[in-house]
Amino acid sequence: MNLENQSVVLSSNIGQININNPFFNASGAWCQTKEQLNDLINSNSGGFISKSCTPQHREGNPPVRYWDNQKMSINSMGLPNLGISSYLNLHNDHSYDKPYFLSLAGLNINDNLLMSYNIVDSENIHCISGLEYNLSCPNIIGKGQLGYDFEATNEYLRRIMETPIYDINKSELAIGIKLPPYFELTHFDEISDIVRQFPRLDFMTCINSIANGLVIDTEKEAPVIYPKSGFGGIGGNIVKPTALANVRKFYTLLGDKLDIIGCGGVLNGEDAFHHILAGASAVSVGTSLMVNGPIIFDTLNSQLEDIMISKGYNSIGDFKGKLKGFY
Ligand code: DHB
Repeated sequence: MNLENQSVVLSSNIGQININNPFFNASGAWCQTKEQLNDLINSNSGGFISKSCTPQHREGNPPVRYWDNQKMSINSMGLPNLGISSYLNLHNDHSYDKPYFLSLAGLNINDNLLMSYNIVDSENIHCISGLEYNLSCPNIIGKGQLGYDFEATNEYLRRIMETPIYDINKSELAIGIKLPPYFELTHFDEISDIVRQFPRLDFMTCINSIANGLVIDTEKEAPVIYPKSGFGGIGGNIVKPTALANVRKFYTLLGDKLDIIGCGGVLNGEDAFHHILAGASAVSVGTSLMVNGPIIFDTLNSQLEDIMISKGYNSIGDFKGKLKGFY
């Protein structure tokens, strides 16, 4: 037996919620149906999160609404989901013993307030370990991404924190936001100033897909997805540098206040290592989960463990956020 191997621990935490390993599905990937969520329960992910939900069931945009070429993806799903009660009450159908987060993406503030009350009033609230308020869905026709409107983001968080969600103990429920990618350095400062006003926030997930890309099929001379004239959110390996920059920037600005879930371009253990080095406490997987299925979590755990062994790291804390300067 490899003695070095014995001492590697992949556990981490999001706020006060502990996870056995840093890996989650990205909301949207493999988490729309109860069967898919059950696959995640049975996988080696550290935790799992629901599809972004609305108060009621939604069919979403017409197909074809997702496309990938193994490494990158484009989607314009349009929030197809079962409605919050199915996700909130998942435990009635499938039991699980790892952290389960709900992703909330109401179409307006009232939807989100309503869902926040639904959760607080639910007898299954103790089956939920985290809430991710999605401020960055790019695919609702006629609606922009909230996270790009700083005033509206501030107001949205203020209203959410006025609900009884605010009073739930941090050790029982981690509360976070999913942000779109930012590109301007001033925008990182502006969002950080807003986030600092809400100490109940335990985490932020960076990044959602890069909105409104276009992928063209050469033979058909047409877009590869149907909705929005082919425009959709881009994920996969090409978004990784943008994701890393967002994780890194927010870690330097807010790393003492909350945890960061890195999302974007994680296809292998080295990608996860880079996210953690930039400052992520956990790492979520979208395109690569869609391409490979939940078995990807076995691969990611073992590849990350191999990198840690080769570098002599025993725990995530040994390298989290410790990106060095150029030399
Ligand atoms: C959808 C896409 C997203 O990127 C997101 O954050 C939420 C929903 C969708 O189109 O369903």
